[in-house]
Amino acid sequence: EESESQVQPLKGKKVLITAGPTKESVDAVRYFTNHSSGKMGYALAEEAKKLGADVTLVSGPVHLKAIAGINTIKVSTAQEMYQAVLENFDTQDIVIKSAAVADYKPKYQMDQKMKKKEGPLTLELERTQDILKTIGLKKTHQYVVGFAAETDNILHYGREKLSKKNLDAIVVNDIGNKEIGFQSDQNEVYVLTQKGEEFSISTRSKQEISKKLFDIFINDMMGESE
Ligand code: CTP
Ligand code: CA
Repeated sequence: EESESQVQPLKGKKVLITAGPTKESVDAVRYFTNHSSGKMGYALAEEAKKLGADVTLVSGPVHLKAIAGINTIKVSTAQEMYQAVLENFDTQDIVIKSAAVADYKPKYQMDQKMKKKEGPLTLELERTQDILKTIGLKKTHQYVVGFAAETDNILHYGREKLSKKNLDAIVVNDIGNKEIGFQSDQNEVYVLTQKGEEFSISTRSKQEISKKLFDIFINDMMGESE
């Protein structure tokens, strides 16, 4: 294989990536989800594998093909993703949370199909657990990367998440820009690091974005050990 003759800076390293949306049931037939396609997370997982890493991909429901040689754990809800990430966290070297996790879930999930009634319906939602914040505060040796989807003030909110969740780096997506992100094969991102560095990666395929991101993360990690 072509990749095997290339440099593998992540050989011997364990990388966990989350991808895609989560899906929260309302009743037997209905659910809440979001527009995440999972393409960014799958591209990151494939790139990590090319760089020699032992990759675990925790994937929400997506329409993408499994990647050979990558240990893929399929989950549906935010709670299932939380469990899969936490169970595997201690042994990882790098964790990248590109999944679009639901912030809220229906407080009550009906086993039956809900019947409609006269008048409006109010559904009570409750918060899910913040997976990224949990691992950011728990991390020992791990390099933890978050994603942020923002429509406005994107660098300001990105920086806030970087510090609140105690991350090593955050990748900021401008989802107000209709040409890129979510369902698209292309993306354009900013990267902010804990050390205060700021990078901008102009529009290109999610594969190319992944290469640039790992360059940044690996350089940043190496700086840490000096
Ligand atoms: N995230 C998570 N668990 C959640 C919600 C979000 O791990 N329950 C992670 C996402 O995977 C992403 C990062 O947190 O890496 C930022 O997600 P985002 O939705 O942009 O930010 P939130 O912290 O949820 O804040 P808000 O949606 O209010 O902007
Ligand atoms: Ca959110």
